[in-house]
Amino acid sequence: MKVLVVGKGGREHALCWKLRQSPRVQAVYCAPGNAGTAQEATNIEIEAHDIDRLVRFARQEGIGLTVVGPEEPLASGIVDAFEKERLRIVGPNKAAAELEASKVFAKELMRQFDIPTAEFRVFDDPDLAKKYIEARDHPVVVKADGLAGGKGAIVCSTKEEALAAVDRIMVEQAFGPAGRRIVVERRLEGQELSVLALVSGRTIVMLEPTQDHKAAYDEDRGPNTGGMGAYSPTPVGTPELMREIERSVLVPAVHGMRRLHRPFRGILYAGLMITLQGPRVLEFNVRFGDPETQPLMIRLKTDLCALLEAVVDNQLDTFAETGLEWDPRPAVCVVLASEGYPGPYQKGRTIFGLDRVAQMPDVKVFHSGTKFSDGRIVSDGGRVLSVTALGENLLEAKRRAYDAVKCIEFAGMFYRRDIADRAIRRLRLQQAGNEPGPTASSPGS
Ligand code: AMP
Ligand code: GLY
Repeated sequence: MKVLVVGKGGREHALCWKLRQSPRVQAVYCAPGNAGTAQEATNIEIEAHDIDRLVRFARQEGIGLTVVGPEEPLASGIVDAFEKERLRIVGPNKAAAELEASKVFAKELMRQFDIPTAEFRVFDDPDLAKKYIEARDHPVVVKADGLAGGKGAIVCSTKEEALAAVDRIMVEQAFGPAGRRIVVERRLEGQELSVLALVSGRTIVMLEPTQDHKAAYDEDRGPNTGGMGAYSPTPVGTPELMREIERSVLVPAVHGMRRLHRPFRGILYAGLMITLQGPRVLEFNVRFGDPETQPLMIRLKTDLCALLEAVVDNQLDTFAETGLEWDPRPAVCVVLASEGYPGPYQKGRTIFGLDRVAQMPDVKVFHSGTKFSDGRIVSDGGRVLSVTALGENLLEAKRRAYDAVKCIEFAGMFYRRDIADRAIRRLRLQQAGNEPGPTASSPGS
């Protein structure tokens, strides 16, 4: 079968890499892809938002399965357009993608179906939002309702910051129309956890727990980014906690979407804060996470193509019974970014050292933002590379990922040096017999 991956980041490179390993897959295409996906797939010059051309390409080329990486095409109805042409595609339709495209919709679903989340209010008037903030005696997070490339949530420590965030989103319209409405919610403390699940009908198959590092700099300082690194599995995601998350978050979300006549099919991603009171949902995404997908794909042993076909064909029960197969070794992914990201940054910087890393066993460099230029591979995004490594334990995986990072260079390259550190500390404590427990509090990551 021919498969098409839509998107151009590290997540899509990891999906292409994994799909290519499937005996069911005869050819992989990536639209538009990058210099990394070109190693695994045939890049097609069609942007992810160009739904009409993607449909035409899939029809003409006889694509048997399409997987969508980013949220925008899902929110614009790519699944509806493909299904109209009887083309098989993994992902929620436009109505169900609202779960990510509107934070207001997601919060109201959580309220209606008793899914644990931070207390909140919705506003379309900045003055009312400010009055509400003035009356709170706890810190808040101010969130634009619509899609904002993962940057629409402003975590505030003081009232002044929160009032400024309202102005930034609603008055200055920093995220455009996405900020016409906002959610103001209580700021939670705890460890963050990303739980991704495949969903089809009533069936839910959870992937292994992962953790992302959203802040730009070490020790979670600096602005939020799309994600500066990730690892899997996470010690915080104990089997008991994963069962609780399935029961209290995923099952009611899937049930709720059916009740609202928006049945969900595809990848459901719950971004959670594990607080002293238990797991709380920060957000839902309706797709694979980036960079969470990179450590997940390097560990997944189950045939990804068979798994995604099962989602589309309502056959996921088979996998729910047998479970998925994972490499037991942990994986760590370190994102190499361009100086300035998530603000303005330079592109077109030559990347050195990729061939040296290609020789390293159990290390894979997924490309996040690269392209070919005059026969060289150059940077082409804020996030440039996702250096991913397996190790016998988390510390070893981290060491190998950073050993590979040391071989790579481009002008203005920066990265976090503390990916997975908190988990490594936690494991040390556990080994010393000083188990902090899955709900122990520490500053949000
Ligand atoms: P979101 O786009 O809603 O996932 O928010 C992006 C990031 O902001 C999350 O990954 C958290 O790091 C942080 N965040 C969002 N909501 C909250 C909250 N209620 N309390 C603390 N941090 C939050
Ligand atoms: N890593 C966060 C996201 O994919 O939204």
